[in-house]
Amino acid sequence: MTKALEGVKILDFTHVQSGPTCTQLLAWFGADVIKVERPGVGDITRGQLQDVPKADSLYFTMLNHNKRSITLDTKNPKGKEVLTRLIETCDILVENFGPGVLDRMGFTWEKIHAINPRMIVASIKGFGPGPYEDCKVYENVAQCTGGAASTTGFRDGLPLVTGAQIGDSGTGLHLALGIVTALYQRNATGKGQRVTAAMQDGVLNLCRVKLRDQQRLAHGPLTEYSQYGEGIPFGDATPRAGNDSGGGQPGRILKCKGWETDPNAYIYFITQAPVWEKICDVIGAPEWKTDPDFAKPAARLPRLNQIFGRIEDWTMTKTKFEAMNILNEFDIPCGPILSMKEIAEDESLRATGTIVEVDHPTRGKYISVGNPIKLSDSPTDVTRSPLLGEHTEEILRKVLGYNDNEVADIRHAGALDPAPKRAAP
Ligand code: COA
Repeated sequence: MTKALEGVKILDFTHVQSGPTCTQLLAWFGADVIKVERPGVGDITRGQLQDVPKADSLYFTMLNHNKRSITLDTKNPKGKEVLTRLIETCDILVENFGPGVLDRMGFTWEKIHAINPRMIVASIKGFGPGPYEDCKVYENVAQCTGGAASTTGFRDGLPLVTGAQIGDSGTGLHLALGIVTALYQRNATGKGQRVTAAMQDGVLNLCRVKLRDQQRLAHGPLTEYSQYGEGIPFGDATPRAGNDSGGGQPGRILKCKGWETDPNAYIYFITQAPVWEKICDVIGAPEWKTDPDFAKPAARLPRLNQIFGRIEDWTMTKTKFEAMNILNEFDIPCGPILSMKEIAEDESLRATGTIVEVDHPTRGKYISVGNPIKLSDSPTDVTRSPLLGEHTEEILRKVLGYNDNEVADIRHAGALDPAPKRAAP
C-alpha cells in the first residue's frame, strides 16, 4: 500500500522536541525525511536524559522515528554547497532553530526561494513578530506566555505547567497542518511559501476556551467554576479552575477505592445534564431527581461541592475501573486517571498501534507512542530512529547524485565530520 506523502522529500533541520514532532508525523505519513545534523554532535537530545550508556536517549528515539540522518557542517563552504543541493532536491525545509540562525547560515527565505521556488519553508519560533521575536523558547516558557499556566492549577496555589507538551508537540502539530496545507496549495500554484508557527500562538490556540471565559467575566461570574458556588468573587482575569470541567457540564476528579495508597486511584466524573437522573439513581440519591435545588442544571451550579461530595461517597466504594464500567452502562461520561504504567501495559493501545514496541541496535527494545492519527489508506509502520550520520553516504550518493570523488572532496573539506581537536599550545 502506498503512503499519503510518498515522494515528498523533507529537509529536516529540526531539533529537540517541537520540530521533530512535526517531521516525525510527516515521515509516518510517508514523506522521506532527511535529518541534517551537526557532525559529531547531532540533535542535542541524543545525549540528554540518557538511560542506556552510549546509546541514543529515549528523548531522541521517540521523536525521530522513520527518518534518515546526514551529518553536515552547514557553516563549512563545501557543506553549504551540499545544503544548496538538498534545497534544490527537497520539497520542504522544516526548522526550529533559534531566531536568525538560518539567516546567519546564509540561507534566508529569499535565497532559498531563489534556489528552489517550489520549496516550502516551515519554521517554529517561540514568539511571532513583536517584542519577543528574538527570544529562545522552551516548552514551559510557551506554556507560561500562551495563557496555559495562569489558568492551570488551583485558585489558591501557584500557576502550573502541564505534563502535556502543548508548547512543543502542540506547535509541531500546528506546523504539520500548515505544511500539508501549503503543499496542497502548491499543487495549484506551483509555488512554495513560508509557513510559521509560534509556540505562544499554538498554546493560546489550545487555551481558546480560557480567552472565552476572560470575555464572559465582563458579563458576570463564571457560574460553572467551583469558585462561584463557594461564594468567592472573581477578579479581572480568568482564574485557575482546579479540575473543574472547561465546558458547561460540571466535572471533577473524585477519589476511588484505594486512593489512600495509590496516587492514581481517581476518576474524572462529569455530571452531564441529560443523564442527571441516571446519576442520581447510581449514587443512591433518587430524591435529587425532583428536588428543586438539584433537578435543573442552573440550580445545581451553586451546590457543586455538595453534589460532588455525595458522588465521591459512591466512587470511593469502587475501584476506578469498576466505577468506569458501571457508569458507562448508563452513558455517564467519566474517565479513570490512568498512570503511564497502566498506559504502557494497555493491550488495546498496542493493538491499534498507538503504543508500539521498537527495536534499536544500541539500546534494544523500547516502547513508544505510535501515530495517533490513523489513515485507512496510508498505514503507519514505525521504524527506529537513525544513528547519527547513518545515512550520510547514502544521501550524498543516491539522493544528491554525488560520485565517489565528489564525496571524497566533501569529506576532505571537513563538511561531514567533526573538526579535529586542536593540540594544546
Ligand atoms: N552545522 C553547523 N552549525 C549548525 C548546524 C549544522 N548542521 N546545525 C545547527 N548549527 C548551529 C546554528 O547555526 C547555530 O549557530 P549560531 O548561533 O552561531 O548561528 C547553533 O547551532 C545553535 O542553534 P540554536 O537553534 O540557536 O540552538 P540553541 O541550542 O542555542 O537553542 C532552542 C535551542 C530550542 C532554544 C532554539 O533553537 C529555539 O529557540 N528554537 C525555536 C523555538 C523552539 O522550537 N523551541 C522548542 C524546542 S523543543
